[in-house]
Amino acid sequence: MSKNSYQLKELEKLVSLAKRRGIIFPSSEIYGGLSSVWDYGPIGVEIKRNVKNLWWKSFVTERDDIFGIDASILMHPDVWKASGHLDSFSDPLVECSATGKRYREDHIFILEIQIKKENKLITIEASDKDEVKNLVKDKIISITPLAESNNKENPSPEGGILSEPRNFNLMFKTFIGPAEDSSSTVYLRPETAQAMFVNFLNVLNSSRKKIPFGIAQQGKSFRNEITPGNFTFRTREFEQMEMEFFCNPSEDEKWHKYWIDFSLDWFKKYGLREENLMIRKHENEELPHYSKASSDIEYLFPWSWGELETISNRTDFDLKAHSKFSGKDLSYFDQENNNRYTPFVIEPAMGADRSVLAFLCDAYCEEETEKETRTLLKLHPDVAPIKIAVLPLSRKDSLTEYSKKIFDDLKGLFTTQYDDTQSIGKRYRRQDEIGTPLCVTIDFESVEEDNSVTIRDRDSMEQIRVSSDKLIEAINDKFKSF
Ligand code: GAP
Repeated sequence: MSKNSYQLKELEKLVSLAKRRGIIFPSSEIYGGLSSVWDYGPIGVEIKRNVKNLWWKSFVTERDDIFGIDASILMHPDVWKASGHLDSFSDPLVECSATGKRYREDHIFILEIQIKKENKLITIEASDKDEVKNLVKDKIISITPLAESNNKENPSPEGGILSEPRNFNLMFKTFIGPAEDSSSTVYLRPETAQAMFVNFLNVLNSSRKKIPFGIAQQGKSFRNEITPGNFTFRTREFEQMEMEFFCNPSEDEKWHKYWIDFSLDWFKKYGLREENLMIRKHENEELPHYSKASSDIEYLFPWSWGELETISNRTDFDLKAHSKFSGKDLSYFDQENNNRYTPFVIEPAMGADRSVLAFLCDAYCEEETEKETRTLLKLHPDVAPIKIAVLPLSRKDSLTEYSKKIFDDLKGLFTTQYDDTQSIGKRYRRQDEIGTPLCVTIDFESVEEDNSVTIRDRDSMEQIRVSSDKLIEAINDKFKSF
């Protein structure tokens, strides 16, 4: 695959492409949308499914030491007591006395403010008090907390005072059954991980597998984030792809390194550019309450580096906590060495939506051609939503019949789209913008003369003529070259 040399700097370009081409839409848009909740459209759902399937293949089905599960979102409320989420899963929240707006304290001290000035939308970073005072006269469109700074005295732009921080628990609450009281309170899971711990014995006993082994699942998680934002990067409803790898405590560091390397290779294999990826080890003070050591895989998003995945050494924290709260022994008997221990857990925890966002940002590309700027998504063919577009040059019966036959031959083998609307140029642009690696074009010569079709390559726009009888072979060869 020819590497992308374009670096996306403005997220808005991708947001607009995503809306235009059916990749991602704001949720409940006809009602004005719901803050930080998004829907995947017909093209986006295929991309997300591909990403999830590729993860499942690499982390589960291609291996003999990982088992998949699919657990419920609602769990016994004691799970969250044992895991520490009821006590510790919170962010420091501060409130502006002037506007009542709430911010995460650790995000607030440099603000990105969008204002309307002389009818223009201007974005500025306000870390200077006088600058902020002047802004009050202008119409403030949005205020986005950016990074942390030491300047704690900086007030909110409207001149309000920020309250002392208080801990805000991020779990969404609901009720199970008809009564709405504290005895029926349950939570929407804030991570998929806990289901793997509480099913440890079930999987161990039903699989008869020896340690080391892992349990994986993908699914929705919910966090009432104080400051969501940056499109699908931080949302309140999102999907995770997590794996808990149970190992002997003496081997924890070896496996921690193994899963960091494995994860980084996975992102590279499916097209993320090496220079846009880095590993960042957590400082001690930022470690989650369950972790002995954590490293993030970060991606260089258009606004800054951001976390795609955290790989943590969760030690025996969760199994011990669930043993204590449930009264069930979750230790493991090692028959070979005749000893009993509580396994340590290494956890690669990846976000499905963030990964999709990173694949889209990395693939987004603008190229100057003689006539126009060509926008394309240089997605890896395995991530691309449509692998082949079948494009007849005209809607004449003979061409339609021939093209439909080609489409029927391909659609069982590759995700294929048939498109006979608009001019061929417009159809190529559309396929480029959704990342279709190959277009197969059928013209009158195909039908009347040489029984051949044209294959057009998305990245190079190179066209080759191949016999229709050899089309599948030629397509497979082309995919190998990506
Ligand atoms: N079980 C560990 C755990 O949940 P995490 O670092 O909080 O760890 C793992 O989450 C991954 O889930 C993150 O690296 C990110 O990709 C994704 N994620 C977390 N919060 C998210 C949010 N609010 N919106 C979108 N993705 C999120």
